[in-house]
Amino acid sequence: MFRISLSVFALISLNLVGCAWLPSQPSVSASVPIVLPVVPAAAPSFRGRWEGSIPGRGKESHQDYQFVLDVAGDKVSGFVITPSEVASISTGIVSGVDLKFSAGRREYSAQMKDHQLHVNLPARGKPQILLATHTSAEPVRAPVTVSLPVLRTLPANGLATTPPMGWNSWNKFRVSINDKLVREIADALVETGMKKVGYIYLNIDDGWEGERTTDGTLQSNANFPNMKALSDYVHSKGLKLGIYSSPGPRTCAGFEGSFNHEEQDARTFAAWGIDYLKYDWCSAPAVYEKSQMRAAYQKMGEALVATGRPIVYSLCQYGMLDVETWGPAVGGNLWRTTGDINATWERMSAIGFDQQGERARFAAPSQWNDPDMLEVGNPGLNEEESRTHMSLWALLAAPLIAGNDVRTMAPATRDILNNEEVIAIDQDPAGKQGARVSKTGLTEIWSRPLDKGDVAIGLFNRSANPATVNVKWADLGLSKVRKVRDVWKHEIFTQVQLTQVQDQYSVVIAPHGVVLLRVSSSR
Ligand code: GLA
Repeated sequence: MFRISLSVFALISLNLVGCAWLPSQPSVSASVPIVLPVVPAAAPSFRGRWEGSIPGRGKESHQDYQFVLDVAGDKVSGFVITPSEVASISTGIVSGVDLKFSAGRREYSAQMKDHQLHVNLPARGKPQILLATHTSAEPVRAPVTVSLPVLRTLPANGLATTPPMGWNSWNKFRVSINDKLVREIADALVETGMKKVGYIYLNIDDGWEGERTTDGTLQSNANFPNMKALSDYVHSKGLKLGIYSSPGPRTCAGFEGSFNHEEQDARTFAAWGIDYLKYDWCSAPAVYEKSQMRAAYQKMGEALVATGRPIVYSLCQYGMLDVETWGPAVGGNLWRTTGDINATWERMSAIGFDQQGERARFAAPSQWNDPDMLEVGNPGLNEEESRTHMSLWALLAAPLIAGNDVRTMAPATRDILNNEEVIAIDQDPAGKQGARVSKTGLTEIWSRPLDKGDVAIGLFNRSANPATVNVKWADLGLSKVRKVRDVWKHEIFTQVQLTQVQDQYSVVIAPHGVVLLRVSSSR
């Protein structure tokens, strides 16, 4: 007891003696208050690197931010590394403890409190505060060790000779996914006949990831207690299992990514029995320059090959840097061409009709342009719009990855997804992607060359009112039309009808609707 009091006293004395500005004869007594001189607070310095994170979309996830700030007078420059981009600060102003800046079309405000930067993150919903700590006095990004392969062309893996078909959890379930859901989806893919018509890949998107063990092995989170058992179950149904990761340190939803663990993760996936990997750029800008993107994708491509297991490789970097020109070289079987789809007519039709650019000629067996997953059956698209969605995707030779709740879908949705004639156009063995032939106001004609000289022709009405579309076969390079089949109606034109449409065909199309034909002709 005595010793403790003494040492406490010694500590107090030491501290007091160490403080030059204290009165020379201090007396630590309750009755005599110590009067401390007022020291003017130095203006806080914002210069340097600030780092912090906010919770991600799931229990074991978070989103990292870096604010790299340079200050001259009251002006701030530098850049921000968010979970999805590196953005330069365009205008930044400091005023006392307050800071305001814009970067990458977003407005930020921040306050310095207790040596931490309290940043108001721009958010669509309720505002979010991120606490960032000062990790460097210099305005430089956090150092990272990057090791990337020399660019080369990987041998083709021979998978996905037709566009992959399956189901993915993201569009409907986001990160609310678990082992039970995946098993139920597997059952439903079989029961609804989807497996029979080709929907084979059951792909788990973002939200399955847990943390790494001390040796770096990536684990699934508590919602997926045993990935190997799950994949055994999926395989027992005659289906294949897909999974998701990122070349960055974090996935888009803030879970663990594969950065600097590529080989290890590929081995883990193979050991679990994974058959398909979607690899999403997400937080990669925090560690890679854009110019390193191809090498980062090649690194995982090589790692997948090294496992010896056939794994379809799906690149997801939203079509940047003309991915179609190097996607196959890094081992990619498909690559996203745009940002994310959602279940609205506006977004789906903009992606399908307007945003595919000049990529068609790059599509071929084992290498496909991917305009994103299907929204058929998700609230937001009506039946006409869903048929338009499927028809366009079939003409685009797009992967058909359903994204609805196939356990509970309406029969009309099932019939749209399972239309075997539309699927046959999508899966045509020639593997040539179609394109727009003409556009008249809000109506469009698209065509896709098929195996054995057949042609798929899509007549679309993008307006909110019925519209007539007239197609002249000669405009599509077709001469004598021998056979015309309406693949949504499952009807073949009779001889009488055929003679009526020898040169051209006119049809009234429902708002946002489509007529999809399969035509055989002698050219
Ligand atoms: C990105 C992708 C989506 C989905 C989410 C998951 O937005 O484009 O398809 O995978 O990430 O976080």
